[in-house]
Amino acid sequence: MSRFKAVIFDLDGVITDTAHYHYLAWKQLAESQGVHFDHEFNESLKGIDRMGSLDLILASASRQYTPEEKLALADVKNRHYQELISTMSAADLLPGAVAALDTVRAAGLRIGLASVSKNAFTVLGRLGITDKFDYVVDAATIARGKPDPEIFLRAAHELGVAPADCLGVEDAVAGVAAIKAAGMFALGIGHPFVLTEADVVITSLKEFNLAAY
Ligand code: BG6
Ligand code: MG
Repeated sequence: MSRFKAVIFDLDGVITDTAHYHYLAWKQLAESQGVHFDHEFNESLKGIDRMGSLDLILASASRQYTPEEKLALADVKNRHYQELISTMSAADLLPGAVAALDTVRAAGLRIGLASVSKNAFTVLGRLGITDKFDYVVDAATIARGKPDPEIFLRAAHELGVAPADCLGVEDAVAGVAAIKAAGMFALGIGHPFVLTEADVVITSLKEFNLAAY
């Protein structure tokens, strides 16, 4: 049914839409530092890890920040974000997400999660889908964020599958680049004119068709 042996999913924007919560938390933080923050800016942060996102925001600030100040600001943003996601539930699963996971499972493939979010375990728990994954990468153990392939290579390694036998699923440009750099097949979720590096692009997991890739 599939030429792949594993499917490795991103979380934010693929399985659930947390972008709005990140937007609210980053906006408050950015504005507290006098930095303008809008939806377009938020889009450019998709798939970028916490400190990387903060650096991009503070690049527009009127002063320099010490590493300690940056850690404190990242912590403020994260606490706000954690407050916002504390009421998430299975109702926040994107359409087609559970069906896609179940299709992959039924086809006998391994299933991994490669999210750079340090809140991924919490979000999976709130969504009630933790046990659908054979391996979830702990973002705290990843040295280089997407577009570096490290997180996808780690997932493949832990699943015991060669990268060439993996299908990666991503909604962010940086994430698709990471999948391709890992030597995997990239399924993009979004628009083909944005995710230009993806092998195939679909609008949402509602269109997921494992046999077609
Ligand atoms: C990614 C999101 O999945 O995780 C980014 O697309 C986010 O927007 C990143 O910044 C890091 O998340 P966290 O939960 O570790 O701050
Ligand atoms: Mg994403």
